[in-house]
Amino acid sequence: MIMQREFTAGAKYCNQNRVKKTFFIETWGCQMNEEDSEKLSGMLKKMGYKKTENKIQADLIIFNTCCVRENAELKVYGHLGALKKLKEEKPGLIIALCGCMMQQKHMAENIIKKYPFVDIIFGTHNSYKFPQYLNAVHQNNSSVVEIQDRETGIVEGIPIDRESTIKAFVTIMYGCNNFCTYCIVPYVRGRERSRNPVNIENEIKNLVSKGYREITLLGQNVNSYGKDLLPRVGFSQLLRRINNINGLERIRFMTSHPKDLTEDVIDAVLECDKVCEQIHLPVQSGSTNILKKMNRNYSREQYLNLIHKIREKIPEAAITTDIMVGFPGESEEDFEETLKLAEEVKYDSAFTFIYSRREGTPADKLETQIPEDVKHERFNRLVEVVNKCSARRNRAYEGKIEEILVEGPSKNDSRKLTGRTRTGKLVNFQGDMDSIGKLVKVKITRANSFSLLGKQVQ
Ligand code: 5AD
Ligand code: SF4
Repeated sequence: MIMQREFTAGAKYCNQNRVKKTFFIETWGCQMNEEDSEKLSGMLKKMGYKKTENKIQADLIIFNTCCVRENAELKVYGHLGALKKLKEEKPGLIIALCGCMMQQKHMAENIIKKYPFVDIIFGTHNSYKFPQYLNAVHQNNSSVVEIQDRETGIVEGIPIDRESTIKAFVTIMYGCNNFCTYCIVPYVRGRERSRNPVNIENEIKNLVSKGYREITLLGQNVNSYGKDLLPRVGFSQLLRRINNINGLERIRFMTSHPKDLTEDVIDAVLECDKVCEQIHLPVQSGSTNILKKMNRNYSREQYLNLIHKIREKIPEAAITTDIMVGFPGESEEDFEETLKLAEEVKYDSAFTFIYSRREGTPADKLETQIPEDVKHERFNRLVEVVNKCSARRNRAYEGKIEEILVEGPSKNDSRKLTGRTRTGKLVNFQGDMDSIGKLVKVKITRANSFSLLGKQVQ
């Protein structure tokens, strides 16, 4: 029995405006937003819309917004301002805003006041209703604003228009229960909800039948997958079930929370041949004092022990992370602990962030905010350490032969191919153009800080 309330998108995707129209979609933020955009795009294509990369010529412009840091919001305002003139010139143009930033009611109200030319605003919980909103705007010639306060169950069956034909993101759970004190995500994405494992398996089998070779299982905290399902299905069990799908070559997953990454998951990575040796394990800070204030529920020592366990069992694993500087109350000593931890772990790569105050989060109310110049100075020092570690880790690949899933021509040089190692390293290499979509062997000839160069050998 599956407890999670779940329903199928009932929309007929009819387009009451029968002329062939085009849409442009811009997405800010994480893979969750990317996946939501692929669903919006999937629904629009079912309605007969065509995707365009030309914003100026599009009949419908959608901004899928992010609010995890202030600069993500500032970008949206910048882009919106530029649309005012376009809307005056093209009154038939429809502008829609959605995503995490819109899920905050005060933000949506502010947008309506400042940018009255926006036609549709909706949040993260009701994006499956977008076709309805679009038809309503066409029919009634008036705007639609609908922000749903709470999450609905899980909506299955929404068409997805994926960017790649080789690798795909598959969401296994929505929402987050962790309430890290700096983070807005639990307020805009709701509580944790796991998808039924049978639906996940069916989606992946369907992708494999279409030629997809690699999937990345997505969730804010994949390690707590299945806690809301009856019978309970743990994340490691899910990995083992997916590993049995014939024709699938690679499985990745993100994001893991250090407090929930259990040994059975490390064992599943080790034992399942399709699960790649890559673990994204956000640390956020190297100081136990700051981790406590962040409500992360692990100490520096516990985190390092976990890294030690991973390295012991899977020495070749790439470990990546998210690190934040300038959390309220972070002293120079706290920050130096972060630097030391980064050096000790020797991350393959790290996403580095400057703490950004988010209205409504507990950390925003702390009086010990760090001055901007101190935050920036720490950020630069952290980036230097992290980049040095990445370069060193990459250099260790020189001379090795790696299995690469070929994704297509290289972005910078179309005579070359591009793909990734099992550990997630980007490799540009000379090879056979017929290899796209296949697993090949590549000899790594040179390492740069952020990518590898090589030559196909098989
Ligand atoms: N300020 C800066 N970075 C943040 N993140 C989340 N909230 C904030 C914030 N308020 C970072 C965390 C998280 C990543 C996705 O974004 O490091 O892991
Ligand atoms: Fe935000 Fe923490 Fe949840 Fe990640 S685990 S989404 S940082 S609250």
